[in-house]
Amino acid sequence: MSRPQVAAARPSTRTALPACLDSGRLPAHVAVIMDGNGRWANQRGLPRVMGHRQGVEALKRTLRLCSDWGIGTLTAYAFSTENWSRPGEEVSFLMTLFEQVLARELEALQQEQVRIRFLGDLSALPDGLQALIAEATKRSAANSGIHFNVCTNYGSRSELVHATRALARRVHAGELDPEAIDENLLAAELHTSGEVDPDLLIRTSGEHRLSNFLLWQLAYAEIHVTDVLWPDFDAEALTLALQDFQGRQRRFGGVEAGE
Ligand code: IPE
Ligand code: IPE
Ligand code: MG
Repeated sequence: MSRPQVAAARPSTRTALPACLDSGRLPAHVAVIMDGNGRWANQRGLPRVMGHRQGVEALKRTLRLCSDWGIGTLTAYAFSTENWSRPGEEVSFLMTLFEQVLARELEALQQEQVRIRFLGDLSALPDGLQALIAEATKRSAANSGIHFNVCTNYGSRSELVHATRALARRVHAGELDPEAIDENLLAAELHTSGEVDPDLLIRTSGEHRLSNFLLWQLAYAEIHVTDVLWPDFDAEALTLALQDFQGRQRRFGGVEAGE
């Protein structure tokens, strides 16, 4: 007699939070500038695009860890408005890669209850990618797990210009009093609307700059720069970033009691 077919279940192995981290003081929102893919490939004598391929593995690893460790939101910088200036072959490789990975991972994201969104000017992306993004966003909108934001054709200055235009249109239409514009109204027009601001920004590959990433939202984020190249980013590197975060004294412009 043949054995009943059991649907292949996902391995339910969750990675436990390392003992050196305090589960009560984790960042609610981690943002990451995934940098160093090209250098990772160069160091191995490989074409740059192989670094991007490995970078996808690092992103999957990081998403899984953040989800397992109870971090509410992960926002990753995948492609900037300035990255169009790269050689055409690299840009088209990246667009194809995004499409392939998204198609391949859609089911797993659903099973893990990930709510995925893509932040940026999506209208400039290839049609096939736009369609997949729309499907993934819709299918996962009601998921109860980690919020996963992928910044694709994202530029913070462009985002702020769009937000300003949206508010100006409402003023022009007589719906909004300019004096009523405050930080909350502006934040509500950004791609990140509905998310808390990132508490921690991680940038890999040792560069100390923001590269047009979340300029508004990162106002009070703690910044952790690591020399690790993105494709090598792993549990140890994430643990170090979180330890660094937990060692910081966040003041938000005030003073500590007793100072
Ligand atoms: C980050 O790695 C990935 C993207 C910007 C798409 P890079 O491609 O910038 O890698 P480096 O900085 O050249 O090493
Ligand atoms: C920032 O990395 C953009 C992404 C990670 C997608 P870049 O490699 O494009 O940034 P710069 O050019 O070093 O500032
Ligand atoms: Mg780079």
